Amino acid sequence: MFLGAFSFFMVKLIGIYFQKVGEAMRVRLLAVTDIHGVIATMESDDISWGSREDKALFKEITTSSGVVVMGRKTFESIGKKLPNRFNVVLTKKTIEYFENLDYKPDLILSCSSREAVETLNKMGYNDICVIGGQSVFTQFLNEGIVTDIHLTIEPVILPGNFYLFSNEITRKFDLILQNIRKLNDVGTINIHYIIKY
Ligand SMILES: NC(=O)c1ccc[n+]([C@@H]2O[C@H](COP(=O)([O-])OP(=O)(O)OC[C@H]3O[C@@H](n4cnc5c(N)ncnc54)[C@H](OP(=O)(O)O)[C@@H]3O)[C@@H](O)[C@H]2O)c1
Repeated sequence: MFLGAFSFFMVKLIGIYFQKVGEAMRVRLLAVTDIHGVIATMESDDISWGSREDKALFKEITTSSGVVVMGRKTFESIGKKLPNRFNVVLTKKTIEYFENLDYKPDLILSCSSREAVETLNKMGYNDICVIGGQSVFTQFLNEGIVTDIHLTIEPVILPGNFYLFSNEITRKFDLILQNIRKLNDVGTINIHYIIKY
């Protein structure tokens, strides 16, 4: 009787422990769009249409996380390593490719989004910021590992059809609103959602 109750208690405890470990892993997706979801006007868009206030918020969140994960094209469109953050770039290119640039990532990975998160988790990171572009946002979302979305909407309508996600989204995701912030007087809005699984 005592042994039965003890085993039940231990199983519960282990369950709670793993639930906690799972909860501790945060994968945030940060993006800025126009009012119809466009994230870039061209491949090398430097997001000059984004507001100073959004850039400040981006810096605040990513610096507190300590690690940014991005696709190779986004890394090149930023044109520098983001300071005080561990810069991870997804690419199938080898490290030699980056020798030609005068800025280099801290880590290059060629793997699935889940494997990238597992690698960073093993390195001690449990709050990861995924900062684009479209292909990377889409992969991380589809994998079901994104916990938070920090979406800034700028009061602008951009030409083109390069949206936040590609048309390869595989299922419906329900979001829970955490917070809405008006970032400035021209009407830039930041919305923080968590994803319901
Ligand atoms: N508004 C925003 O919030 C925002 C944020 C970020 C970016 N952007 C814009 O988005 C555009 C770039 O988006 P994008 O979708 O074209 O490119 P991207 O996602 O930045 O980069 C795509 C590249 O990343 C590499 N890659 C992606 N997944 C990989 C994986 N699982 N394993 C290995 N390599 C992988 C490949 O690089 P290789 O070709 O080297 O193999 C691929 O060509 C830019 O215009 C940028 O300005 C906007």
